[in-house]
Amino acid sequence: MVRGILKISQISKIYISKYPLIAFLLILLFFYSSLVKAESYAVASRHHLATDIGMKVLNEGGNAIDAAVAVAFALAVVNPSAGNLGGGGFMLIHLAEKNETFSIDYRERAPIKSFEKMFQDKSGKVIKGLSLNSILASGVPGTVSGMFYASEKYGTINIKALISPSIELARKGFVLSEYQAKNLNKYKQKFSKNQEAKKIFTKPNGFSEGDILVQTNLANTLERISQYGEEEFYSGETAKKISSFFQINGGILSLEDLNQYKLRILKPVCGSYRYYVICSMAPPSSGGIALIQILNVLENTDLGKLDHNSEEYLNLLISAMDYAYKDRAEYLGDPDYSEVPKDILTSKKYADEIFKQIKEKKLPSKAKINVFEGEETTHFSIVDKWGNAVSNTYTLNTAYGSGIIPTGTGILMNNEMDDFSSKPGYPNAYGLVGSEANKIEPKKTPLSSMSPVIVFLHKKPYLITGSPGGSTIITSVLQEIINVLDFKMSLEESSKKSRIHFQHLPDILFHEQLDNSLIKSLKKDKKLINRKLGEVHSILLKKDGIEAFSDKRRPDGKASSIYK
Ligand code: GLY
Repeated sequence: MVRGILKISQISKIYISKYPLIAFLLILLFFYSSLVKAESYAVASRHHLATDIGMKVLNEGGNAIDAAVAVAFALAVVNPSAGNLGGGGFMLIHLAEKNETFSIDYRERAPIKSFEKMFQDKSGKVIKGLSLNSILASGVPGTVSGMFYASEKYGTINIKALISPSIELARKGFVLSEYQAKNLNKYKQKFSKNQEAKKIFTKPNGFSEGDILVQTNLANTLERISQYGEEEFYSGETAKKISSFFQINGGILSLEDLNQYKLRILKPVCGSYRYYVICSMAPPSSGGIALIQILNVLENTDLGKLDHNSEEYLNLLISAMDYAYKDRAEYLGDPDYSEVPKDILTSKKYADEIFKQIKEKKLPSKAKINVFEGEETTHFSIVDKWGNAVSNTYTLNTAYGSGIIPTGTGILMNNEMDDFSSKPGYPNAYGLVGSEANKIEPKKTPLSSMSPVIVFLHKKPYLITGSPGGSTIITSVLQEIINVLDFKMSLEESSKKSRIHFQHLPDILFHEQLDNSLIKSLKKDKKLINRKLGEVHSILLKKDGIEAFSDKRRPDGKASSIYK
């Protein structure tokens, strides 16, 4: 190698003496190219049309926040199972110029008339389905408030221009993929219970690939929101349509609830991991704390030296998950209602203690609890050419939320009340149990697992990621982070790796296509469930380029990037 360098320097000497002008220009070009930073930006989301809309905003000079708002409105149309106006979520933002990272909590709040035992019968038994499929299942939606806040405070483009493509998609319709057509057909029964949902989302002989889904009432609602601003949703015609529907149909969500909706700006939970800093969502999400806690435990081992998805590696992962999910159930809830011991749970000292226990093969104690399954929610990641980044996860909770559309609005309502613990120890749709910290109280926010993440390297965004998947969000995102940071995988390689999920309760090891003998050795007395886990949409900002990748676990996602 040394000989090669000598040779190059001899050749360059000859050239400089023979062609001084060309050499001078080449040197100038070299310095210029190292001064002018390459321009790179990207969007990764669940639906190709939403990604295209986001990229168009970025191409035309909008920033990451502009693109995020446009993508969020677009997903409310083209991804009705999770994209929404009738739900809520979390937006993690990094502003490059100010080197500032913060989050917007625009998640749903419990209606004023909600109360702790609202989903229990007189004998204290939880009434199955009431928190999921009934008129009582919805929290007060925050998405419209979140998008207007982000746009007004940090955007550069008038929000009307950002909503406009979504109005067109809702009015003219968009082409259903095979996956979407089948998915709508799968939920026919759910939609049939509500007049408007039935009209929009069912078809006598079922939808087929290539059908056009038109949502006229949603287009009209979006148009009013675009014209009159967020007040339209919280106190205008739309608010009145929503609240009167709830009142007429025995619900508790009121106009007063909509009038009083308030988002929160929250400091993210950040922690160091090797030479990276990981930031994610603070409570009311459990995501940030659980992620940092697990990573702190794993930091005690040089993971990159283990074989990926080997028995030793996976056993360590399962044990770290076990502890984190136990703490989630015990301590986490809305921080405005009970104190969350965030500093302890995310401290290195606490993680070291857990690691010691794991090495001594001590694990948290168990109880028997049944499990339900569900895995909706949607995530998108965006970065602009200035280095601003948005990591956004939002949801209706389970697929298509409660399946209820207030007449004339086209808005599918969430069933986020199920994310509260209906009764301490009783599992929600994701089999997650909660304690007093997550009991139902008026205006309170239910505990979430949504984990939008930004990983920083040398104080700059390096990996922007997140996933849907209910309780499996945290572990899907965790494995994406480890695959990229510890095992140096590309985003595509990482997404092809089998994932596992373990959440303390119930005692089930969820896995994707792992080798049979490996599974047996991991299983011990756990039940096994083989299913898809998560759907990660990530962007990786490398020194010499950008990667954007949308998980192929579902077919309609798209990641686009520009590097020039
Ligand atoms: N509704 C799922 C979550 O927030 O975690």
